[in-house]
Amino acid sequence: MGRLAGKVAFVTGAASGIGAACALRFAEEGAALAGMDLNRPAGGDWDAAVKLAPAACFEIGDVREEARIQEIVAAAKERLGRIDVLVNSAGVAGGGMIHMLEQKDWDFVLDVNLKGTYLVSKHVVQVMLAQGSGSIVNIASVEGIEGFLGGSSYNASKGGVVLLTKNMAIDYARAGVRVNVICPGFIDTPMFRSVFSMEATRAIQEKIREAHQLGRFGKPVEIANAALFLASDEASFVTGVTLPVDGGYTAGHRFTG
Ligand code: NAI
Repeated sequence: MGRLAGKVAFVTGAASGIGAACALRFAEEGAALAGMDLNRPAGGDWDAAVKLAPAACFEIGDVREEARIQEIVAAAKERLGRIDVLVNSAGVAGGGMIHMLEQKDWDFVLDVNLKGTYLVSKHVVQVMLAQGSGSIVNIASVEGIEGFLGGSSYNASKGGVVLLTKNMAIDYARAGVRVNVICPGFIDTPMFRSVFSMEATRAIQEKIREAHQLGRFGKPVEIANAALFLASDEASFVTGVTLPVDGGYTAGHRFTG
Protein backbone atom coordinates (compact mmCIF):
# COMPACT_ATOMS: atom_id res chain seq x y z
CA MET A 1 0.00 0.00 0.00
CA GLY A 2 1.55 3.31 -1.08
CA ARG A 3 2.04 6.15 1.37
CA LEU A 4 -0.29 8.36 -0.74
CA ALA A 5 -2.69 5.64 -1.88
CA GLY A 6 -6.13 7.09 -2.62
CA LYS A 7 -4.87 10.68 -2.52
CA VAL A 8 -4.83 13.27 -5.30
CA ALA A 9 -1.84 15.62 -5.57
CA PHE A 10 -1.74 18.91 -7.49
CA VAL A 11 1.78 20.09 -8.36
CA THR A 12 2.83 23.44 -9.85
CA GLY A 13 6.09 23.66 -11.77
CA ALA A 14 5.39 20.01 -12.56
CA ALA A 15 7.27 19.98 -15.87
CA SER A 16 10.75 20.28 -14.40
CA GLY A 17 13.15 19.87 -11.50
CA ILE A 18 11.73 19.61 -7.98
CA GLY A 19 8.06 19.74 -9.07
CA ALA A 20 8.51 16.88 -11.54
CA ALA A 21 10.45 14.87 -8.93
CA CYS A 22 7.58 15.35 -6.45
CA ALA A 23 5.08 14.16 -9.07
CA LEU A 24 7.11 11.02 -9.72
CA ARG A 25 7.74 10.23 -6.05
CA PHE A 26 4.04 10.79 -5.24
CA ALA A 27 2.94 8.55 -8.13
CA GLU A 28 5.31 5.83 -6.89
CA GLU A 29 3.43 6.03 -3.58
CA GLY A 30 0.02 5.65 -5.20
CA ALA A 31 -1.18 9.25 -5.67
CA ALA A 32 -3.28 10.41 -8.61
CA LEU A 33 -1.77 13.53 -10.17
CA ALA A 34 -2.65 16.92 -11.55
CA GLY A 35 0.07 19.27 -12.71
CA MET A 36 0.44 22.74 -14.13
CA ASP A 37 3.37 24.59 -15.64
CA LEU A 38 4.15 27.29 -18.18
CA ASN A 39 5.77 24.62 -20.33
CA ARG A 40 4.81 21.14 -21.38
CA PRO A 41 7.09 18.48 -19.84
CA ALA A 42 9.68 17.21 -22.31
CA GLY A 43 10.40 13.72 -21.04
CA GLY A 44 11.84 13.28 -17.55
CA ASP A 45 10.15 12.75 -14.21
CA TRP A 46 6.64 14.00 -15.08
CA ASP A 47 6.40 11.60 -18.03
CA ALA A 48 7.65 8.76 -15.81
CA ALA A 49 5.02 9.75 -13.20
CA VAL A 50 2.22 9.59 -15.77
CA LYS A 51 3.15 5.97 -16.56
CA LEU A 52 2.42 5.16 -12.91
CA ALA A 53 -0.62 7.45 -12.62
CA PRO A 54 -2.29 7.17 -16.02
CA ALA A 55 -5.28 9.38 -15.08
CA ALA A 56 -2.87 12.28 -14.50
CA CYS A 57 -3.93 15.60 -15.96
CA PHE A 58 -1.44 18.25 -16.97
CA GLU A 59 -2.41 21.80 -17.96
CA ILE A 60 -0.41 24.66 -19.34
CA GLY A 61 -0.96 27.69 -17.11
CA ASP A 62 0.73 30.62 -15.43
CA VAL A 63 0.65 30.78 -11.62
CA ARG A 64 0.27 34.58 -11.96
CA GLU A 65 -3.09 34.30 -13.76
CA GLU A 66 -5.98 33.77 -11.38
CA ALA A 67 -8.68 33.03 -13.97
CA ARG A 68 -6.55 30.30 -15.57
CA ILE A 69 -5.70 28.81 -12.16
CA GLN A 70 -9.39 28.69 -11.32
CA GLU A 71 -10.12 26.75 -14.53
CA ILE A 72 -7.24 24.32 -13.99
CA VAL A 73 -8.13 23.62 -10.34
CA ALA A 74 -11.80 23.11 -11.26
CA ALA A 75 -10.81 20.73 -14.08
CA ALA A 76 -8.55 18.70 -11.74
CA LYS A 77 -11.30 18.44 -9.12
CA GLU A 78 -13.84 17.46 -11.79
CA ARG A 79 -11.58 14.77 -13.26
CA LEU A 80 -9.98 13.36 -10.10
CA GLY A 81 -12.78 14.01 -7.58
CA ARG A 82 -10.74 15.74 -4.86
CA ILE A 83 -7.38 17.40 -4.11
CA ASP A 84 -5.55 16.18 -1.00
CA VAL A 85 -2.08 17.58 -1.58
CA LEU A 86 -0.77 20.78 -3.16
CA VAL A 87 2.92 21.37 -3.89
CA ASN A 88 3.73 24.95 -4.91
CA SER A 89 7.02 24.42 -6.75
CA ALA A 90 6.71 26.81 -9.72
CA GLY A 91 9.39 29.44 -9.33
CA VAL A 92 12.01 31.55 -11.01
CA ALA A 93 15.50 32.68 -10.06
CA GLY A 94 16.39 36.36 -9.93
CA GLY A 95 17.88 39.12 -7.86
CA GLY A 96 20.54 41.82 -8.14
CA MET A 97 21.45 44.63 -5.77
CA ILE A 98 18.41 46.83 -5.48
CA HIS A 99 20.04 50.08 -6.63
CA MET A 100 20.49 48.42 -10.02
CA LEU A 101 17.31 46.36 -10.09
CA GLU A 102 14.53 47.39 -12.48
CA GLN A 103 11.05 47.39 -10.96
CA LYS A 104 9.78 45.04 -13.68
CA ASP A 105 12.45 42.48 -12.72
CA TRP A 106 11.56 42.81 -9.03
CA ASP A 107 7.86 42.40 -9.87
CA PHE A 108 8.48 39.34 -12.05
CA VAL A 109 10.22 37.38 -9.28
CA LEU A 110 7.75 38.43 -6.56
CA ASP A 111 4.80 37.70 -8.86
CA VAL A 112 5.83 34.16 -9.76
CA ASN A 113 7.32 33.03 -6.45
CA LEU A 114 5.10 34.75 -3.87
CA LYS A 115 1.89 35.84 -5.60
CA GLY A 116 1.82 32.54 -7.53
CA THR A 117 1.93 30.59 -4.25
CA TYR A 118 -0.91 32.73 -2.88
CA LEU A 119 -3.10 32.42 -5.98
CA VAL A 120 -2.79 28.65 -6.47
CA SER A 121 -3.22 28.02 -2.74
CA LYS A 122 -6.26 30.32 -2.69
CA HIS A 123 -8.13 28.10 -5.14
CA VAL A 124 -6.87 24.68 -4.06
CA VAL A 125 -7.50 25.36 -0.37
CA GLN A 126 -11.18 25.95 -1.14
CA VAL A 127 -11.40 22.36 -2.38
CA MET A 128 -9.59 21.18 0.76
CA LEU A 129 -11.86 23.21 3.05
CA ALA A 130 -14.92 21.62 1.46
CA GLN A 131 -13.37 18.17 2.06
CA GLY A 132 -12.24 19.04 5.60
CA SER A 133 -8.69 17.83 4.89
CA GLY A 134 -5.55 18.59 2.92
CA SER A 135 -1.82 19.17 3.02
CA ILE A 136 -0.06 22.09 1.31
CA VAL A 137 3.70 21.95 0.80
CA ASN A 138 5.33 25.17 -0.32
CA ILE A 139 8.81 25.21 -1.81
CA ALA A 140 10.77 28.25 -0.61
CA SER A 141 14.58 28.16 -0.28
CA VAL A 142 17.42 28.47 2.20
CA GLU A 143 17.40 32.00 0.75
CA GLY A 144 14.00 32.48 2.38
CA ILE A 145 15.57 32.10 5.83
CA GLU A 146 18.92 33.82 5.38
CA GLY A 147 20.48 36.41 3.10
CA PHE A 148 22.68 35.91 0.04
CA LEU A 149 24.82 38.52 -1.72
CA GLY A 150 22.64 40.10 -4.41
CA GLY A 151 19.66 37.90 -3.53
CA SER A 152 17.18 40.80 -3.09
CA SER A 153 13.94 39.96 -4.92
CA TYR A 154 14.49 36.19 -4.79
CA ASN A 155 15.19 36.20 -1.04
CA ALA A 156 12.30 38.58 -0.39
CA SER A 157 9.94 36.34 -2.36
CA LYS A 158 11.05 33.18 -0.54
CA GLY A 159 11.03 34.87 2.88
CA GLY A 160 7.47 35.88 2.04
CA VAL A 161 6.57 32.27 1.24
CA VAL A 162 7.98 31.15 4.62
CA LEU A 163 5.81 33.64 6.55
CA LEU A 164 2.78 33.07 4.35
CA THR A 165 3.10 29.36 5.16
CA LYS A 166 3.00 29.97 8.90
CA ASN A 167 -0.03 32.19 8.51
CA MET A 168 -1.88 29.71 6.31
CA ALA A 169 -1.07 26.98 8.84
CA ILE A 170 -2.80 29.01 11.55
CA ASP A 171 -5.71 30.04 9.33
CA TYR A 172 -6.60 26.52 8.17
CA ALA A 173 -5.46 24.19 10.99
CA ARG A 174 -8.89 23.90 12.59
CA ALA A 175 -10.37 23.12 9.20
CA GLY A 176 -8.11 20.06 8.81
CA VAL A 177 -5.62 21.57 6.35
CA ARG A 178 -1.90 21.41 7.19
CA VAL A 179 0.56 23.84 5.57
CA ASN A 180 4.36 23.47 5.66
CA VAL A 181 7.32 24.86 3.72
CA ILE A 182 10.50 23.17 2.54
CA CYS A 183 13.64 25.30 2.18
CA PRO A 184 15.94 23.46 -0.23
CA GLY A 185 19.66 24.05 -0.40
CA PHE A 186 21.16 24.15 -3.90
CA ILE A 187 19.58 21.33 -5.90
CA ASP A 188 20.79 20.10 -9.29
CA THR A 189 17.88 21.07 -11.56
CA PRO A 190 17.54 23.02 -14.83
CA MET A 191 17.15 26.25 -12.76
CA PHE A 192 20.38 25.50 -10.88
CA ARG A 193 22.20 24.75 -14.14
CA SER A 194 21.02 27.97 -15.77
CA VAL A 195 22.13 30.02 -12.74
CA PHE A 196 25.55 28.37 -12.73
CA SER A 197 25.94 28.72 -16.50
CA MET A 198 26.61 32.45 -15.91
CA GLU A 199 30.30 33.28 -15.58
CA ALA A 200 29.96 35.24 -12.31
CA THR A 201 28.15 32.42 -10.53
CA ARG A 202 30.27 29.65 -12.05
CA ALA A 203 33.24 31.20 -10.25
CA ILE A 204 31.58 30.73 -6.83
CA GLN A 205 29.97 27.34 -7.50
CA GLU A 206 32.67 25.42 -5.60
CA LYS A 207 32.38 27.70 -2.54
CA ILE A 208 28.61 27.24 -2.51
CA ARG A 209 29.01 23.47 -2.76
CA GLU A 210 31.43 23.61 0.19
CA ALA A 211 28.88 25.62 2.24
CA HIS A 212 26.66 22.53 2.26
CA GLN A 213 28.03 20.62 5.26
CA LEU A 214 27.52 17.33 3.43
CA GLY A 215 29.94 18.64 0.78
CA ARG A 216 27.63 18.28 -2.22
CA PHE A 217 24.58 19.73 -3.93
CA GLY A 218 21.20 18.07 -3.49
CA LYS A 219 19.14 15.98 -5.87
CA PRO A 220 15.49 16.74 -6.74
CA VAL A 221 14.36 13.41 -5.26
CA GLU A 222 15.81 14.44 -1.89
CA ILE A 223 13.36 17.36 -1.81
CA ALA A 224 10.57 15.14 -3.12
CA ASN A 225 11.15 12.66 -0.28
CA ALA A 226 10.67 15.44 2.29
CA ALA A 227 7.58 16.69 0.43
CA LEU A 228 6.23 13.13 0.44
CA PHE A 229 6.49 12.96 4.22
CA LEU A 230 4.77 16.34 4.70
CA ALA A 231 2.08 15.43 2.16
CA SER A 232 1.32 12.07 3.76
CA ASP A 233 -0.64 11.17 6.89
CA GLU A 234 2.69 10.32 8.55
CA ALA A 235 2.97 14.09 9.11
CA SER A 236 -0.53 14.32 10.64
CA PHE A 237 0.76 16.41 13.61
CA VAL A 238 3.07 18.62 11.52
CA THR A 239 1.88 22.06 10.45
CA GLY A 240 3.46 25.50 10.18
CA VAL A 241 6.93 23.99 9.93
CA THR A 242 9.84 25.50 7.97
CA LEU A 243 11.96 22.52 6.99
CA PRO A 244 15.43 23.12 5.55
CA VAL A 245 16.45 20.23 3.31
CA ASP A 246 19.85 21.62 2.58
CA GLY A 247 22.71 19.25 3.40
CA GLY A 248 23.52 21.41 6.42
CA TYR A 249 23.76 24.71 4.48
CA THR A 250 21.93 26.64 7.20
CA ALA A 251 23.51 24.71 10.11
CA GLY A 252 26.34 27.24 10.40
CA HIS A 253 29.89 27.76 9.23
CA ARG A 254 32.78 25.35 8.87
CA PHE A 255 36.09 27.13 8.97
CA THR A 256 39.14 24.91 8.64
CA GLY A 257 42.79 26.01 8.73
P1 NAI B 1 13.04 24.43 -12.57
O1 NAI B 1 13.32 25.64 -13.39
O2 NAI B 1 13.67 23.14 -12.92
O3 NAI B 1 11.47 24.21 -12.43
C1 NAI B 1 10.59 25.28 -12.18
C2 NAI B 1 9.35 25.09 -13.02
O4 NAI B 1 8.47 26.17 -12.72
C3 NAI B 1 9.63 25.13 -14.54
O5 NAI B 1 9.09 24.00 -15.16
C4 NAI B 1 8.95 26.40 -14.98
O6 NAI B 1 8.41 26.34 -16.28
C5 NAI B 1 7.85 26.56 -13.92
N1 NAI B 1 7.38 27.93 -13.86
C6 NAI B 1 8.13 29.07 -13.82
N2 NAI B 1 7.34 30.14 -13.84
C7 NAI B 1 6.06 29.69 -13.87
C8 NAI B 1 4.80 30.33 -13.92
N3 NAI B 1 4.69 31.66 -13.94
N4 NAI B 1 3.70 29.56 -13.94
C9 NAI B 1 3.77 28.21 -13.95
N5 NAI B 1 4.96 27.55 -13.93
C10 NAI B 1 6.08 28.28 -13.90
O7 NAI B 1 13.47 24.85 -11.08
P2 NAI B 1 13.58 24.00 -9.74
O8 NAI B 1 14.99 24.09 -9.33
O9 NAI B 1 12.89 22.71 -9.85
O10 NAI B 1 12.76 24.96 -8.77
C11 NAI B 1 11.53 24.57 -8.17
C12 NAI B 1 11.31 25.43 -6.95
O11 NAI B 1 12.36 25.19 -6.01
C13 NAI B 1 11.35 26.92 -7.25
O12 NAI B 1 10.35 27.57 -6.50
C14 NAI B 1 12.74 27.33 -6.78
O13 NAI B 1 12.80 28.69 -6.41
C15 NAI B 1 12.92 26.40 -5.60
N6 NAI B 1 14.30 26.20 -5.21
C16 NAI B 1 15.20 25.64 -6.07
C17 NAI B 1 16.51 25.46 -5.67
C18 NAI B 1 17.56 24.87 -6.57
O14 NAI B 1 18.76 24.94 -6.21
N7 NAI B 1 17.22 24.28 -7.70
C19 NAI B 1 16.97 25.85 -4.33
C20 NAI B 1 15.91 26.37 -3.49
C21 NAI B 1 14.64 26.53 -3.93
